[in-house]
Amino acid sequence: MNLFQGLHQSHGEAEAFAASMKKVGWDDEALAKVLVGDEDQSRSGPELSKSLQTSQFAVMLWLTKLLRPGDTIIDLGGAGGTFYETCTRYGLLDMPVLWHVVDMPEMIVRGRARHEALQSKTISFGSHLAEAPDSDILLALGAIQYMPDPLGETGPGILESMKALPEHVLINKVPLIDDDDVWTVQSHVTTACPYRLFNRRKFMSYFEAHGYRLHDAWHVPEITVEIPFHPERALPGLEGVYFRRDARTRSDRVEPAGWKDALQIQ
Ligand SMILES: C[S@@+](CC[C@H](N)C(=O)[O-])C[C@H]1O[C@@H](n2cnc3c(N)ncnc32)[C@H](O)[C@@H]1O
Repeated sequence: MNLFQGLHQSHGEAEAFAASMKKVGWDDEALAKVLVGDEDQSRSGPELSKSLQTSQFAVMLWLTKLLRPGDTIIDLGGAGGTFYETCTRYGLLDMPVLWHVVDMPEMIVRGRARHEALQSKTISFGSHLAEAPDSDILLALGAIQYMPDPLGETGPGILESMKALPEHVLINKVPLIDDDDVWTVQSHVTTACPYRLFNRRKFMSYFEAHGYRLHDAWHVPEITVEIPFHPERALPGLEGVYFRRDARTRSDRVEPAGWKDALQIQ
């Protein structure tokens, strides 16, 4: 799954390079079948849910501390609800919560079918973040590096696309570098996908500008990046972060006029 090729200066450039090789992007039936699982629900499930990735323990630890009855979780790039199944298996969702997955149409179709068969009661799906319900926790696990503009540099980013900002944001399996942003292309089963290595400062600043503070961070040892002919861009692991939005800086609260300007919140 981790076959990387080439370095590019933008998502658009990487996309054009990917298109010269094969179909581009994640909205693909064969890819969805690998990630979400077969129609035969009696089988053990999708590849990704069979074994727990090391860094998923960090996300699960924070979820055990943060989740409250009545909470809504958005799982951006959550494929067919694989991590929902993992959390269910570990008993994290033994309380009334709503888990809403936002992903590509092919993933969503398979995810819905799978969870109907599994009779999952608390998961829903959609393919637009802007249409997702208000949430308490945003998860983005191994997903935002594939998105065209997650940090809102040319249009709405992930946070600008949400109806209201959640208090907690957990991002796992993200490639951060202490150099300028750069894009490569990752080949999957049938497609090739632009893949961004984020400049760490730009990534952190985006969340800080929306009132978040870094609360925790961890190493992701199970995923490495090795781009042939570019050893200078090799990553021995990805990273995970937990951002928390301080109640005093939440712009969704009703505050006296001038309050946002005084705190310089965007
Ligand atoms: C590597 S998989 C990660 C799946 C899962 N979150 C996990 O941790 O195993 C990347 C996921 O991001 C999704 N994705 C890519 N671009 C997306 C976009 N623009 N909007 C929503 N989901 C996207 C893909 O369809 C895929 O399900």
